[in-house]
Formats: sequence, structure tokens, C-alpha cells
Amino acid sequence: MKISIFGLGYVGAVTAACFARDGHEIIGVDVSPEKVALINAGKSPIVEHGLEELLAEGVRSGRIRATTNSEEAILASDASLISVGTPPTERGETDLQYVFNVLKDIGAVISQKSAPHAIVLRSTVPPGTLQRCHDFLAEVVNLKSIHLAFNPEFLREGTAIRDYDQPPYTIIGTEDDFAEKAVREMYAKVAAPFIVSPPPVAEMVKFVANTWHATKVTFANEIGRIAKSFQIDGRDVMDIIVQDTKLNISTTYMRPGFAYGGSCLPKDLGALLYCAKAMDVPVPLLNAIPRSNTLQVEIAVQEVMRSPARRIAIFGLAFKPGTDDLRESPAVLLVKRLIGEGYEVKIYDKAVHEARLVGTNLAYIERNLPHFEALLVEEPEAALKDAEFAVFTYSTPEFCQVMLNIPQNIRILDLAGLVSEPLVGKDYHGIAW
Ligand SMILES: NC(=O)c1ccc[n+]([C@@H]2O[C@H](COP(=O)([O-])OP(=O)(O)OC[C@H]3O[C@@H](n4cnc5c(N)ncnc54)[C@H](O)[C@@H]3O)[C@@H](O)[C@H]2O)c1
Repeated sequence: MKISIFGLGYVGAVTAACFARDGHEIIGVDVSPEKVALINAGKSPIVEHGLEELLAEGVRSGRIRATTNSEEAILASDASLISVGTPPTERGETDLQYVFNVLKDIGAVISQKSAPHAIVLRSTVPPGTLQRCHDFLAEVVNLKSIHLAFNPEFLREGTAIRDYDQPPYTIIGTEDDFAEKAVREMYAKVAAPFIVSPPPVAEMVKFVANTWHATKVTFANEIGRIAKSFQIDGRDVMDIIVQDTKLNISTTYMRPGFAYGGSCLPKDLGALLYCAKAMDVPVPLLNAIPRSNTLQVEIAVQEVMRSPARRIAIFGLAFKPGTDDLRESPAVLLVKRLIGEGYEVKIYDKAVHEARLVGTNLAYIERNLPHFEALLVEEPEAALKDAEFAVFTYSTPEFCQVMLNIPQNIRILDLAGLVSEPLVGKDYHGIAW
């Protein structure tokens, strides 16, 4: 492919060099004449292991050249990749002026081309940006000539070429077939799966990946600080933690849904926070966890309160399916809040109901939740009778069936993701989807 790359910084220079090595013909564009001159001389504009050799080879073979003339580059290429900076403004908002400057250049030229031209945004941008790019271009060019995709970059400085060659996946955020095909062709030599998603999802994935990495660093640092206060080497602790690939470093507990609860997570996190406090170790990230968890319950309450419904059916009272354990269950908190707001509540939870019959958790309910006894019903139908709103706090096949059969007039709040797509023809709501 003939590809023009706008912005020859860390991302653009590495992408140019790797694309050329993989057989593409690259025209680099930058507003900096110095960077353009360096590239044309086969020199790297940045310090990056192995980059200068690749760039020099690309220039020698005639597969890389650079220019400050964007018009010439667009006319001579099949696709443009935008990798200009997107720095934060003083308020922390992403400054998109460089992206729009490039789009202005592209918009002024692509109508002169007879062949379709793909525009691939590689810079990191907030959700909704590709749509803004589309609207911006639609002001100046025919809709049919707009072929946009968002393709986030995951390289790390210092290991950029290796990261380019071995990404976890290549994301194509687009709904445009021509742009998708162009991105697939660009990375044809990279041995990684393609993931095609709606543009805002892809845009958010890039932000979330970096936020997750920052969270991991900070989490490990806070654990290290607590460990040291107990004369424990924090590295020894985390070495063992990361060896558990079933629960710790895994996909478990990584889906949005309802709040955590139960007899262990809240208690043990609380105990570790107490240790940190007792040792005067500041751990703001860990301290925020219980607060954020309680907020998840409160957001569910607000979601119920937003509707005029007064009679609520709750599906799931324990903190997860298959247990009658009500200790620290977020659903218990939810019901308490709703009762406090004057709602009429009925609760269906098979395990809790059965355990109550045989008396295993009867004492707990009698002691801690005496007012819940009268609210528990035996069958889903009894919970739904006269209900105006059904709230599902966890997922079971039985609950899925109930949800699928709920009449249209009963509003649904799915806190646990029982279905992966909003239910068509039902008054279906979630708080993270
Ligand atoms: N640096 C990284 O490790 C990394 C990794 C992944 C994603 N990203 C993202 O990639 C984007 C680029 O980052 P970077 O570190 O390569 O930036 P950079 O600042 O190193 O390079 C940006 C380049 O764009 C040029 N430029 C500005 N306006 C231009 C225009 N109108 N036409 C042509 N060139 C123009 C600048 O002169 C500069 O050379 C950012 O959105 C960044 O968040 C960076």
C-alpha cells in the first residue's frame, strides 16, 4: 500500500519504519522541517532501539520519504494514517487541534482523487472523536468519499518495534468496510488478531488500557508500602500474587456489574485498610475501593428512583448465586435503601428461601433483617405480581428466563448483565451498559 503518515513523532516514525519494512510505500508528513529532513537522511527523529537502522533501510530502498507538503502526500497515497500529538489542555481535556489540522488538509484534497482514500486515526483520542472527524469532513467533502477508522497504538517507548510486531491485537474501530479493509492490509504482516468494534468502543479501550496499567502500578506500590511497614518485602507478596492466573491475573472480576459483597472481600479489604491506617501508611487508591463499591449500590437506588414505579421485585438477595450468605450482600443494602425510601419490595432468592425453611440462616435474618422476612417470596411469579419494576442483582439461568418473559409494562434493571444486548421490546436498563 501507499500510505501517508501524518506526524513523525514516536508513533509515526516507528509505524513508518515498520510499514516500510513490511513492504508498504511510506510518505511521512510533519510540520517540522527538521524531522522531515532527518527522516529523508535516513536518521531517526527520536531515540528508539533499532529504529534508525529500519528507517535508513526504508529510505535506501526508496520505500520511505518525508515531506512537509500534505497535499502531495495525500495525492500520492491510498490511505492516510494520523499520528499527531493529542496533548492535554490545562483543564485536562484532550487537545484535538493537531488532529483537526490534518483533517483540514485531507478534506481540502481528497475530493480531487478519483480512487477512495482511507483515513486511519492512530492518535489516542476520547470516545466520540471519530464521529466528530466524520462530521468535520462531511462539511467539506461528499459523504461517499469519507472512509474513517480508529486504530489505537499500544507500543511502549523503548520497546516500540517489538511492541509493534507483537501487539495483543489490532483494533479497528470502524463501521466502514473500505476503511476496515485498508487497516487489515496495513497490518497484514503483523501476527495478531484483528478486533473490529464500533469506533467509540475502540476509542475508550485505549484510554482504559492505560488507566488499567496506571492502576496496576499504583496498586502494587500501595501494597509495597503496607508490606514494608510490616517489615515484609512487597515484591515477595506480589511475586506470589501474580502467580495465581485463575483469580488474580485473569479475566475474573473484570466485568462491570453490581457491587462486590459477601463475608470475605469487604471484611479483608477493611482489615488491610485498618493495618495501613494503624501503621500510618497512606493508601488513597485502596481507601477509595469501599466508597466506590457503596456508590454502585447508590447508583442502582437512583436508577430505581428515576422511574415512577413504587412496587419493586428484587431477584437475588445474597451476594452471589448459589449461596444463602447474606453477610455484606450489596442486595441487602439496596433493599434497605429502597425500604427507607418507602418502596414496596418483594424479594425472590431461591437459596435464601430454602435455607430459611430449613433454618440455617433463619437466625441471621431474624437478628439482622427481621423486616425482610415478610418480603421474601417463594416463586418468581409472586415477586412479579403487581410489580412495576424488576431488579436483578446477579445472574442465573432461572433469572434469565424470568427476565426474558417479563411483561413489557414492568421496567427491568439488570445489574449483573444477564443478557449481553438490551432486550428489544422491553423497558430494559443497566447501569454500565
Ligand atoms: N508515545 C507513545 O509511546 C505513544 C503510544 C501509544 C499512543 N500514543 C499516542 O499517539 C499520538 C502521537 O504520540 P507521539 O508520542 O508520537 O507524539 P509526538 O509529539 O512525538 O509526535 C507528534 C508529531 O506530530 C507532528 N504534527 C503536529 N501537527 C501536525 C500536522 N498538522 N501535520 C503533520 N504533522 C504534525 C509534530 O510535529 C510531531 O512531530 C498521541 O495521541 C499519543 O497519545 C503515543
